[in-house]
Amino acid sequence: MHHFRYVGQNLHCESVDLAEVARLYGTPTYVYSASTMADNYTRLSGSMKGLDAQVCYAVKANSNLAVIRHLGNLGSAFEFASAGEMRRVIAAGASVRRSVFAGVGKTELEIRQALEAGIYSFHVESEPELARINHVAGKLGVKAAIAIRVNPDVDAHTHAKITTGTSANKFGIPLRQAAAAYEAASKYPHITIRGIQSHIGSQITDVKPFVETLEKLAPLAAELKERHRIEYISIGGGIGIVYRDALASGAASWWDAQPEASRPLTPEVYGATLSPMLAKLGLKVLLEPGRSMVANAGVLLTRVEYLKRGQGKNFLIVDAGMNDLVRPAMYDSYHEVVPLQRDTTRRALVADVVGPICESTDCFAKDRQVQEVGEGEYLALMSAGAYGHVMASRYNTRPIPAEVLVKGSAFEQVTARETFEQIIANEKIPAFLK
Ligand code: LLP
Repeated sequence: MHHFRYVGQNLHCESVDLAEVARLYGTPTYVYSASTMADNYTRLSGSMKGLDAQVCYAVKANSNLAVIRHLGNLGSAFEFASAGEMRRVIAAGASVRRSVFAGVGKTELEIRQALEAGIYSFHVESEPELARINHVAGKLGVKAAIAIRVNPDVDAHTHAKITTGTSANKFGIPLRQAAAAYEAASKYPHITIRGIQSHIGSQITDVKPFVETLEKLAPLAAELKERHRIEYISIGGGIGIVYRDALASGAASWWDAQPEASRPLTPEVYGATLSPMLAKLGLKVLLEPGRSMVANAGVLLTRVEYLKRGQGKNFLIVDAGMNDLVRPAMYDSYHEVVPLQRDTTRRALVADVVGPICESTDCFAKDRQVQEVGEGEYLALMSAGAYGHVMASRYNTRPIPAEVLVKGSAFEQVTARETFEQIIANEKIPAFLK
């Protein structure tokens, strides 16, 4: 459930009229609902009944300092994919003591920074990485706690570009080689074996691939507990959200109206299905949700620049582009497009909703039915809170967009829109051209 709905004819985020936000801060601007994030967090952490479970929010999904702080205040720890993300957690005033560091390419510097910061565990993705962590820890005279990311070779049935748990992917150590990798780890003087980890992909809307993964991992986890006294299992992230009917899905009645078999995966179903399997292991459980914490908590506000009526085709040209929200261009993702001011007396329009960038992939929606809107009116691209702002670029020398956080009737800009001067600040003309 989320906190975006029409109050009268105006789309609101919690108690804030989004058109007011657009007028105040300009567009394109990301707007996030703090209460939606809190609901998402509470539902997931509450779903792991009877377990010692810790949510480690995957910072990559939305790394705004305010978002990190908000989730930290709720009790979340963090999963980071770079030292930069770790430093964001620290800069947000949250602790990294219960947090984990993942990623296939950790550099020596990153490993050192994480050891100095005192993180909970490294999620190791290869044997050479084990050797490197041991080496860096040795130089610092400390022991590094690790878990090996095991690739269970499970098909998550999600978009090919966000599948990570099959043997065709670069991630983790194959299940068959994992026991040997743990043996190797146990020989290193500066490594402590602390856990086991797996993450099979993202936007997974069925609980079965998670079950299959746990079934495959359970015997190894039990053996590791016996042999190396591991204390935790991390089951990764990957819970999918509702992108189609995004606005409707915020209403409690919408869920009940779905046929049971086609109901999207909820945190409750995820928790209720996996908890009994996890309880048998007797280990602490780490969850690494990214998308399911923040995706439905965010929208991207954009202004209509032109309605271009072509031959048999209409184009709604908006001021947000693929540089601001790359998911449709990169993953063919669907984002609902809705007007900030609804007007039921207007005709519907079928159009491609496109940005201003010189690329045909700069398209948010194809042949989409939307309310007829014209220049100066605002639209919201729904479910843009995850992998939106964090993946924005400056392509076409466009500034990284602003971000606003809403809680109840309060709202504040939490990232200012970049200026042209900031964009070119690190560039210079070399002496030999002067
Ligand atoms: N843990 C690990 C090790 C991960 O690699 C990821 C995401 C997560 C947790 C969080 O997964 P989530 O709960 O968000 O599904 N940019 C893509 C998604 C890439 C996901 C990368 N890894 C998108 O926009 O769909």
